[in-house]
Amino acid sequence: MEYRAPRGTRDILPPESEGWDIILSKLTVRAEEYGYKKVIFPTFEHTELFKRGIGEDTDIVQKEMYTFQDRKGRWLTLRPEGTASLARLFVEKGIDKFNGVSKYYYFGSMFRYERPQSGRYREFYHFGVEALGSDSPYLDVELISLCKDTVESFAIKDYLIYINSIGCSECRSQYILKLGGLLKQVIAYYCEDCRRRVTTNTLRVLDCKIDKHRNAELPILSDNLCPSCSQHYDEVKKGLQTLNINWQENPNLVRGLDYYNRTVFELVTPYLGESTSILGGGRYDQLISCLGGKETPGVGFALGFDRLYQVVYSNNPDFLNSPRKGVYISSPETGLWDKVFRITFDLRNRGLKAECNYQNRSLKSQVKTADKDNYEFFLTIFQKDMVLKNLTTGEEKVYENEEEEKVLVLLSGKGDMS
Ligand code: HAM
Repeated sequence: MEYRAPRGTRDILPPESEGWDIILSKLTVRAEEYGYKKVIFPTFEHTELFKRGIGEDTDIVQKEMYTFQDRKGRWLTLRPEGTASLARLFVEKGIDKFNGVSKYYYFGSMFRYERPQSGRYREFYHFGVEALGSDSPYLDVELISLCKDTVESFAIKDYLIYINSIGCSECRSQYILKLGGLLKQVIAYYCEDCRRRVTTNTLRVLDCKIDKHRNAELPILSDNLCPSCSQHYDEVKKGLQTLNINWQENPNLVRGLDYYNRTVFELVTPYLGESTSILGGGRYDQLISCLGGKETPGVGFALGFDRLYQVVYSNNPDFLNSPRKGVYISSPETGLWDKVFRITFDLRNRGLKAECNYQNRSLKSQVKTADKDNYEFFLTIFQKDMVLKNLTTGEEKVYENEEEEKVLVLLSGKGDMS
């Protein structure tokens, strides 16, 4: 049998894996500057959590979950997203009992059984950010601002933030009644998914990629909000204006998870196309109580890490070029390999990136490897002396054996090549 990674999954190798680290550390720093703290939760949860949290009629729960029974017959699901897990954690740990705003971020793989294509995988990564404990529109604005800061910190200038308000359960259910009635007359012209959704999840007909052009004549949800949701939406827009954040209202933006209410948003770039978001999020004021916790409003977003990498890389492939670092040590004389080995470990213990050769290869091919792997120095050990080469400048200097300590001090950053 030929072994291959399962369809829709990928191996991430250097230099991409190094690029991931660069991106992740930037995201982490930015989230922490905004006061968010890291949480880690399990990769799988009880299936019921996602059914209840995300909604029985959503595509995720209906068609996309990786669900299995463990040896004791319990139904478990690989997490398709993080918000439901975070909400479960919040209730389970009793954080809902404390007043105040709790702000968390997380990073990890998510699993959805979708048709793989560019930017869409069955195992993909989320960098998620969630704030719980306040229904203030300022918090919605803070999260949208974090989205903007995040993409701009990667020099992505060409992007669009879509926003919408889907109201509360009351104004939304009245709108859905109205929408359902109007759609009934024309639904025969819509795609198969829309014909199914019109009864199970009517709002999703609005964001159908195939049929959204048909929706121009339909009433707009944000024009049908109750006074309190309408005021909340106005305040979000006012806050965005205060921070000079550009947005575009998108009446078709309803999101595919049932926990949302009021503000929803997505960020798109031309690199991926208008219908492929880099990130998506919104407010979810009933999720915590729906999972048995004390009523606690929440708002958050998740950034598709794989997609962000794709955009950052296509926008600026040079971001992977990190400065040369460390030293590669070798000797053409097998009798000196012990010394090579000892010096390598000595330098590592002094905190320097150091590598030596474990194969009997020519010096020339080893220098090539060191150069390709971005080492700054190449140290060759001979019987009576050693030669240190700077791989950036090509400069070479010979040191006597007695000068070994001087070379080690120089390499570990505490001296220069004089
Ligand atoms: P979501 O829109 O389902 O939201 O996912 C967020 C982002 O994950 C998307 O914008 C996209 O970039 C990325 N994504 C989704 N599916 C895939 C896939 N199959 N392959 C690659 N990337 C993908 C949520 O999951 C919500 N939990 C977001 C949230 C957090 N709302 C409030 N807090």
